[in-house]
Amino acid sequence: ALIPLRPILDATDKFDYAQGAFNVNAVCQAQAVIDVHEMFRSPAILQGADLANGFMGGRKDFMNATIEDKIIGARNIANAVKERAKDSFIPIALHLDHGRDFDSVKAAIDGGYTSVMIDGSSLPLDKNIELTREVVKYAHERGVTVEGELGVLAGVEDHVFSAGSTYTNPLHAIKFFKETKVDALAISYGTMHGANKGKDAVVRKEIAIAIKECLRHEGIQGVLVSHGSSTVPRYIVDEINALGGDIQNAYGIALNQLKEVSHCGIGKINVDTDIRLAVTRNLREYFVNNPEAREDKCINEIWHLMESNPKAFDPRAFLPPIMDTVMYGN
Ligand code: G3H
Ligand code: 13P
Ligand code: NA
Ligand code: ZN
Repeated sequence: ALIPLRPILDATDKFDYAQGAFNVNAVCQAQAVIDVHEMFRSPAILQGADLANGFMGGRKDFMNATIEDKIIGARNIANAVKERAKDSFIPIALHLDHGRDFDSVKAAIDGGYTSVMIDGSSLPLDKNIELTREVVKYAHERGVTVEGELGVLAGVEDHVFSAGSTYTNPLHAIKFFKETKVDALAISYGTMHGANKGKDAVVRKEIAIAIKECLRHEGIQGVLVSHGSSTVPRYIVDEINALGGDIQNAYGIALNQLKEVSHCGIGKINVDTDIRLAVTRNLREYFVNNPEAREDKCINEIWHLMESNPKAFDPRAFLPPIMDTVMYGN
């Protein structure tokens, strides 16, 4: 069944583990994520990022997605997941990743998402609290879970946990939970978005432990979220590069660190980059092994996009020709 995220998070807290939360940009990816979780008999957390909703609403230049595009995309993915969830024996939550403003969050909720993130981390603390509180009111009235964010994710070398730090301040986290009533909080503690997290990135798990301890002390039930947590498997990067790609300096978070943080108050671990890399590897493999397929106009256009963008690994950069084919038959 499609359910809010909150009970899935509460279970991670009660039994001291963490759930992966996987980003998708298409219905077929959502199906695959659900299939794998059914195999492991685990609840599933699917997430669509704000711009992913624009893309799934049919917007090829998703960076310019409007609210109208996002509303259509949210409805598309939510309806598909709802259908698939009907005959599934696992609980499934559909979560908006990095909602940027109230209207984007509203688009996701109205479209059928059961959980949303409002990312006010670039705002001053009081403005972040104000915006998050507004989202919590709208979401909770509709049974939808809310994740907020405090602190700025950045490189691990340039920032230390001291004055001017962008790591999450535990005291701010307590204030944030108290004043917004969010269900979960994304923290900054050494992880970083993307495929270039730096060699030997160290996750500062003591920051998660400190925040979680403060929450316990205050009697606040809250789950912490680890963003930027892809492991960036070496072998996938090597395969992409052997197939004509050019992805340099690719490093992720070591799996043993993710295992450790799952016992430090982290209940949700966000993964997007690893899926993007896997899709890119598979697409490249297909084109290299099936040169004759390029006789098809659409396939050839996709290949051309890949050939001319060896550094790209966002599938959304390659898939627009499929949209043209489906929508206009050319
Ligand atoms: O944390 C960011 C996610 O990887 C989503 O990225 O906004 O390009 O969909 P996106
Ligand atoms: P990665 O870029 O490490 O996959 O992080 C994804 C993420 O945090 C999505 O919110
Ligand atoms: Na945990
Ligand atoms: Zn993130």
